[in-house]
Amino acid sequence: MSSSAVAFARQNHSRFLDELKALLRIPSVSTDPAHKDDCRKAAEALLAELKRIGLENGRLIEGEGHPLVYADWLHAAGKPTVLIYGHYDVQPPDPLDEWLSPPFEPTERNGNLYARGSADDKGQIWAQVKALESLLAANGSLPLNVRVLFEGDEEVGGEVIAQYVASKPADLKADFALVSDTELFAPGLPTLCVGLRGMIYTELEVRGAKTDLHSGMYGGAAPNPFVSIAHIIAKLKDEKGHILIPGFYDGIIPPSPEELAAWKSLPFDEEEYRKTEVGSKQLVGEAGYSVLERTWARPTVEVHGIPGGFIGAGAKTVIPAKATAKISMRLVPGMTPAKAFELYKSYVEKIAPIGVDVEVRLIHSGDPCLIPVNNRYIQAATRALHEVWGKDTVFIRSGGSIPIVGDFDHHLGLPSVMMGFSLPDDSIHAPNEKFNLKNFELGIVSLIRFLEEVGS
Ligand code: BES
Ligand code: MN
Ligand code: MN
Repeated sequence: MSSSAVAFARQNHSRFLDELKALLRIPSVSTDPAHKDDCRKAAEALLAELKRIGLENGRLIEGEGHPLVYADWLHAAGKPTVLIYGHYDVQPPDPLDEWLSPPFEPTERNGNLYARGSADDKGQIWAQVKALESLLAANGSLPLNVRVLFEGDEEVGGEVIAQYVASKPADLKADFALVSDTELFAPGLPTLCVGLRGMIYTELEVRGAKTDLHSGMYGGAAPNPFVSIAHIIAKLKDEKGHILIPGFYDGIIPPSPEELAAWKSLPFDEEEYRKTEVGSKQLVGEAGYSVLERTWARPTVEVHGIPGGFIGAGAKTVIPAKATAKISMRLVPGMTPAKAFELYKSYVEKIAPIGVDVEVRLIHSGDPCLIPVNNRYIQAATRALHEVWGKDTVFIRSGGSIPIVGDFDHHLGLPSVMMGFSLPDDSIHAPNEKFNLKNFELGIVSLIRFLEEVGS
């Protein structure tokens, strides 16, 4: 690890960390219209930094959402071109009172940096930017050609970047993508993610009476949309976790025996996972599949919230006129969002209880992806990671989704290297999200050495 870029990164670590804190103070919550300006502020801060470190052609790309950030450096004649991707938007911070320090006041505690977006994904894009800065500052040039593309709508489905990528603009011409938005399988264990689940995110609206009604006067005669929603949800999967939508599992491509064998040798303790990560008294899910199979290679149905009705203090006796439920499904290789939505929609319409109207809406969707590992970029990554972490890389999948990764493959023909440095217990999307400071530091070094390896 004798590269002068690595030395630069080590010397400048505390400045890098201060700068990351400044980025984390911007509450760029993409789903909340009240934070629209904050999302733009985060995009502008990233653009300014990319220009400052020496990238060129920097600009914001506007679409129907938050801006994309683009910049490039294309002076490594004869070398490959990397498309570096990450997202600057973050999840909403609620429930606020569960945070030990405020979500947008980054705070160091026990070797971690606590803030919304610290791990997902600002800490990781900052590691990418600081790797580029270190290379440019130490050498005056980059070891390969670089295009950077950051989005601000990942947490809400990534429509803007999807449209941009689908238009195959010349300025995305590259040989591979580098995505830093995933996790290490365990602390200190170098990891590349090679598969993600896809998803459809839907809203189910159920309408009963023409207006809210007194529940004593009309209870027994008027339909209750919340009860109808409960009946519908109860029919989506059985108590053993088997999804009841006809045809839903058709066409699923199971992991190969080799991949399953590799998962079996990962350091995974189901009881420890239950206790420390999940914290429930028992795990649930389909019989006959391990936890890793259930979360990485099987589809699921989840209910996120059922807004509406009476949620104030105390009691109110009312039969609400309507109810909605936010319901999503994770998809695995062999499934497509369009088909999954069609099957779900016709099933819900068929099982709709009497007396109510149901409407099923698609909010956003993304394809599942599975990445071939036999290419020089993955090989360069494992060499770099071995050097930095002193261990062989494990290949994992993840149950989460990054919609654009599938599009990089379909539209641009790019293989992705998903090299990320968060940890399973970083509480992404939850209160007290954190990023391990050592992982921030080694993440920067890993990215530097990876880019140097690809360019060498
Ligand atoms: N970074 C996550 C996805 C992820 C999580 C990858 C854990 C690997 C390990 C990403 O920001 C995310 O949360 N995506 C959303 C996408 C959705 C809104 C389309 C998700 O998975 O819910
Ligand atoms: Mn993310
Ligand atoms: Mn996320």
